[in-house]
Amino acid sequence: MPRPTKTPPSDPLKQLVGQPASAIDTPALVVDLDAMQRNLSRMAEFCRKHDVRWRPHAKMHKSSAIARLQLQAGAVGVCVQKTAEAEAMVEGGVMDVYISNEVVAPHKLARVARLAHRLASEGGQLAIAVDSREGIERLAQAMDDVRRRTGAGAVINVFVEIDVGQGRCGAPPGPAAVALAIEVRKHPALRFSGLQAYHGQAQHIRSASERREAIGRAAQDAAATRRLIEAQGIPVDLITGAGTGSMVCEAASGVYGELQAGSFLFMDADYAQNERDPAQPQFEHALFVKTQVMSAGAGHAVCDAGHKSHAIDSGLPKVHAPDGAHDLDYFNGGDEHGILRPAHADAKVPQIGRVLWLIPGHCDPTVNLHDRLIGVKGGLADGKVTRIIRVDARGALT
Ligand SMILES: Cc1ncc(COP(=O)(O)O)c(C=O)c1O
Repeated sequence: MPRPTKTPPSDPLKQLVGQPASAIDTPALVVDLDAMQRNLSRMAEFCRKHDVRWRPHAKMHKSSAIARLQLQAGAVGVCVQKTAEAEAMVEGGVMDVYISNEVVAPHKLARVARLAHRLASEGGQLAIAVDSREGIERLAQAMDDVRRRTGAGAVINVFVEIDVGQGRCGAPPGPAAVALAIEVRKHPALRFSGLQAYHGQAQHIRSASERREAIGRAAQDAAATRRLIEAQGIPVDLITGAGTGSMVCEAASGVYGELQAGSFLFMDADYAQNERDPAQPQFEHALFVKTQVMSAGAGHAVCDAGHKSHAIDSGLPKVHAPDGAHDLDYFNGGDEHGILRPAHADAKVPQIGRVLWLIPGHCDPTVNLHDRLIGVKGGLADGKVTRIIRVDARGALT
């Protein structure tokens, strides 16, 4: 006889709410909500001061609950990278979404078009990036299909992406981008809304002056392309772009009207290695992997968080001990283990059972490894769990 199945509790982590942070089992992805709130406020204030719109990238946190906090703090909407991320955000109540990426598969574009119509009927709006004539035609076809089927006349906002130095997606700045803007305007269901000029590589240039130079060139290319499009009698309402590493440069350029930075909210170890531009708000680390020492020898210890707990594409995590007692370097111990070694002669090997906090090298793919973020207030060591945040766009890759 088959064993009767038990209904699992809706979310066992919810039982943690109200308990001290010490009750969080390891390894776990924990957000210092006080630090996150300070980052949010600093970003909102920065954008107000520089009179730029703020559309944070939700590819970083993948959580509609966090997106709603950003909207309450003054964001105009969110960016996402994938159709499935857009669907998760809309399902979670976010009404203004920009897919800052190219989508070309007809079955995906059918989803994009359905989402655009759904948002339009609920008072929201959807936008998307394009960088080819073919992509524009396919998008227009998908929008027309839904229009024909439903009789509704929604439009989708379209940004022509230009490659301003990253060497990834984007048409070359100049005449090629002008031709795409003209092409977008041929389709009644597409509204040409401006240019996307995101320079991803510039985010991680360590020197502040070299970042300024790179974004200076990107802004020049974007401005020149805008002039050429406007010379055709086509208004360019907005130039959008920027990430956490370079956002002060785009904000100061007078060219960009919207910032897409996402990582500032959690601040990973990689971004902390950039030379800080004096104009940059002081963002704090807010995302940690709580881990525990499970084995200790004479010269090293081993903790229970390996690269199934945090992404290592941008380097290994930094060890953060709230009481400052241990200066440790983290070495890769594989999927489930981390090797910890004293960082200098005076530092000690931690003992078995010791709790440590890791600052992930790259927050976006780290979050994507977890179903839930555990939110703590009052400090990592002595604080309390106050909320569990669902990563509702986790694994939303299509
Ligand atoms: C198009 C686009 N905009 C904005 C961002 C946000 O950058 P960050 O999370 O580094 O602030 C990214 C990140 O990869 C991106 O691809």
